[in-house]
Amino acid sequence: MVELTRKLKRAAQLISDSEERRVYFGQRQAIRRPLESAWIEVSAVCNLDCITCPRQEGITTEPLKLMPIETYYQVADAIFPYIRNLNLIGLGESLMHPQIDEIIAYAKSKFVGVNMTSNGTIMTDKIAQKLISSGLDSIAFSIDGGKKETFEAIRVNARFDKVQRNIRRLMEAKAAAGVQRPWIALGLVLMKTNVDELAEVVRLCHELGIKTLNAENVFTWTEEMEQTLPLYNGMTAAEEAAIEEANKVARELDINLELPGFVLKDPGPCSYRPQDHFVVTWEGDLRPCCNLFHPYQYVFQGEKKFAHEATMGNLLQEGFKSIWNKPDYAAFRKANETGIGLPEVCQDCLFSRGV
Ligand SMILES: C[S@@+](CC[C@H](N)C(=O)[O-])C[C@H]1O[C@@H](n2cnc3c(N)ncnc32)[C@H](O)[C@@H]1O
Ligand code: SF4
Ligand code: SF4
Repeated sequence: MVELTRKLKRAAQLISDSEERRVYFGQRQAIRRPLESAWIEVSAVCNLDCITCPRQEGITTEPLKLMPIETYYQVADAIFPYIRNLNLIGLGESLMHPQIDEIIAYAKSKFVGVNMTSNGTIMTDKIAQKLISSGLDSIAFSIDGGKKETFEAIRVNARFDKVQRNIRRLMEAKAAAGVQRPWIALGLVLMKTNVDELAEVVRLCHELGIKTLNAENVFTWTEEMEQTLPLYNGMTAAEEAAIEEANKVARELDINLELPGFVLKDPGPCSYRPQDHFVVTWEGDLRPCCNLFHPYQYVFQGEKKFAHEATMGNLLQEGFKSIWNKPDYAAFRKANETGIGLPEVCQDCLFSRGV
């Protein structure tokens, strides 16, 4: 402790410039914040109509809008002292927020790392510049197919060529600015309808100069989805071969292909880790995890159910600590950390089932 104090004093002497000093101590303080990340839904509006998305009619019952910038600042000030990273994601497209650069820059000014997931349809030169200059750390683009027809049948209203052009535009802007960030990755919802193109998407990563492809299993909202899409209810030999082929191509091209599990296990600890993460809706409601962003209808193992609204508190009305320390919320986190006493919605969730 004495040694640490001595080191800090020495560092303060060394850093004579006041801005450098602010950054140095700000960063030191930020890495000691207790929670890994929060996801903020700055936009619950979207220009696409993906067939997998819980935005589909009849799935969620809540209104979906853009987060007002005043709400963002209030939420940010309430939670930034507790989190190391921010993920700009929700039931919409974050790049549709007209003040997205201001949103990112504010978080960065408070020493919070900023990441986002995007559908890749909105990327003018100006937006690319804004993402770079605001300090965005990483962005994952969702690509649910390796062929135009498949991609466009899943990501309705998106154009395969245009999304690729947009990703290249951001890469070129980074190269022109001589910067490494934002790091770019691709993401994919892996299903029976696109698994045979997984190797193709790995090749696309290579062509685009992207090192990471993250594949996730599909959550199902309707009987039809459950019967036709998931790979975790049993795979054919051809589907297994497609995954093996993708792994082989990834090894050859040195692409980091991240795959989920494909065998449903008994309910256990949640891999989303609600003890380290939480989400905030466009209205400032704090909810415990990405799967409970909004209430929704779902189908799991043939049964149709409803995931009820799971607000722990509203950050415009209540302080973060008061919400975080509520006994029911603490019990929810404990159950998900241990896997014991999980609520039904968690038992039905892929993140407690190892897939
Ligand atoms: C709801 S979107 C929001 C971000 C952005 N609009 C996008 O599509 O990338 C977040 C992620 O969820 C994925 N997703 C959509 N439907 C899904 C489903 N049924 N199961 C699992 N992930 C899903 C999307 O592909 C995307 O990567
Ligand atoms: S782009 Fe994202 S938010 Fe929009 S419909 Fe598709 S998955 Fe949903
Ligand atoms: S297991 Fe529960 S806490 Fe974890 S992501 Fe699923 S619904 Fe959320």
